[in-house]
Amino acid sequence: MKSNGLIFILAFVLAFAGGYFFFTNDKTNDTQIKESSESPTEAGKESKDEKEQTSVPAEYEILNTKSCLSCHAVSSLGLEGGNTGPDLSNAYSDIEGKHGIDLNSFLQKPTSAVMSSVIEGSPLSADEREEILEVLKKASEK
Ligand code: HEC
Repeated sequence: MKSNGLIFILAFVLAFAGGYFFFTNDKTNDTQIKESSESPTEAGKESKDEKEQTSVPAEYEILNTKSCLSCHAVSSLGLEGGNTGPDLSNAYSDIEGKHGIDLNSFLQKPTSAVMSSVIEGSPLSADEREEILEVLKKASEK
């Protein structure tokens, strides 16, 4: 009986030590993973840079950096884009008739479902709205 108790205590101590080693090993693994994950992040950065080098003229680049072109084309400016949203060639002049507010207000607080979540997720600064307005004004004049 007495030795049973001793074995029990021994087993307990061993389990404890085992757990200690297990956790310390785990920690070193963690840091190793962190270190090795640095290179994939850099690889990701590189591919993002490549994406930004798509052939959008600098004066229209704002539509690219703000991801507008992932959903919209602006055919009058020769800009290809996704077709989730309408072609923005005439958005500047059409917006009031279509949505009842001017383009600046629309880009600040859209009245439509998809654009509301786009702008909510990534609001445009006043400068950015102005820049986009100029581009879309130019588009509607072409
Ligand atoms: C996730 C896709 C998506 C992104 C990104 C997106 N839009 Fe839209 N946009 C839409 C859709 C869809 C509509 C149609 C109305 C709606 O459902 O919201 C729309 C409508 C519009 C309209 C109204 C045009 C019309 O004829 O009704 C304008 C202007 C507009 N977007 C500008 C922008 C600008 C500027 C950006 C970039 C800052 C942008 N959109 C980014 C999907 C998108």
